[in-house]
Amino acid sequence: MQGKLIDLKNEALAQILSAGNTRELEEIRVAYLGKSRGKITNIIKKLPDLPPQERAIVGRFANETKKAIEDALETQSTFLSKRRAENIAQTEWLDVTAPAVSLPDGHLHPLTQTLNEVVKLTNRLGFQVVTGPEIETDLYNFERVNMPKNAPSRDTQASLYLDCRNSKIQPGEILLRTQTSNMQARVYEKTKPPMRVLVPGKCFRVDDLDATHSYEFWQFEGFVVDRGTKMTHLFGTLDYILKGLLPGIEYKLWSTNFSFVEPGVEVVAKRTDGSWMELLGAGMIHPNVLKMAGIDPAQWSGFAFGMGLTRLAMMRFQVDDIRVLTNPDLRILKQF
Ligand code: DAH
Repeated sequence: MQGKLIDLKNEALAQILSAGNTRELEEIRVAYLGKSRGKITNIIKKLPDLPPQERAIVGRFANETKKAIEDALETQSTFLSKRRAENIAQTEWLDVTAPAVSLPDGHLHPLTQTLNEVVKLTNRLGFQVVTGPEIETDLYNFERVNMPKNAPSRDTQASLYLDCRNSKIQPGEILLRTQTSNMQARVYEKTKPPMRVLVPGKCFRVDDLDATHSYEFWQFEGFVVDRGTKMTHLFGTLDYILKGLLPGIEYKLWSTNFSFVEPGVEVVAKRTDGSWMELLGAGMIHPNVLKMAGIDPAQWSGFAFGMGLTRLAMMRFQVDDIRVLTNPDLRILKQF
């Protein structure tokens, strides 16, 4: 019996010394000293079966073994807790004065950057920003800018009409606006001249997607109504905006026809590959537009322009395909 106790003690002490954590120590304690099935406990439980003389000797020895194992468990437990505390101090320390890890910054989309620049430039000229609906009536999108139903100029803007079946709205009455010029009549209804207005916004047309066209694009309309407004004011304004946005720009301007201006002009700009791209239409506001708005063309005159913001952004960032600017892939957008 004593030999068995010595073996158990040696076995237990070896296991205790190699235990790496307190959970392992607890398992060892249960295996040897556990109340129901501990190896030492079992021997102590059998002591009453021994003859009295042997019982006293084995009993004392068993208790000494138990005590030795308990002491070893205690010592190893203290050692392990100390080592754990040291490890934490070395590996898991927290320096509250260390600078925070910075998160990557986002930045504005190239179209937004360009628009902000346009707003800044025109602000200096006294323009105020107004925005309006993308779903618009035929009245404001076309009629009030002098494009009656049968006007040939309507054909140049193939439109996306809303499906109004099962409603009181007549077919062809509501559409996605084709131009930000829709806001001219809306502003004239609420504002008396003089005025300088900038209307940025999204426009929509039936257009096949290619490098310079999209069915959805950004545009901004600018218009000024004042006494004695002349073509030279228009040219000066356009020149200021274009050169402010695109330093070193080469552009050409020629006369063309838009129903809402008379005379009308168009501006094309030279791209890096030497080709010319249409950037804007402009002109002196047609007297019919002013008359429909209740503004007397004998007293007031004005100019208006509509620029393709997406195309300006293409030139500004030297992008040769409009689809690059509508692609949400961050790897592409991070370049600008
Ligand atoms: N709204 C025209 C378009 O989208 C652009 C335009 C041309 C606007 C001439 C104007 C203008 O204000 O005077 O094609």
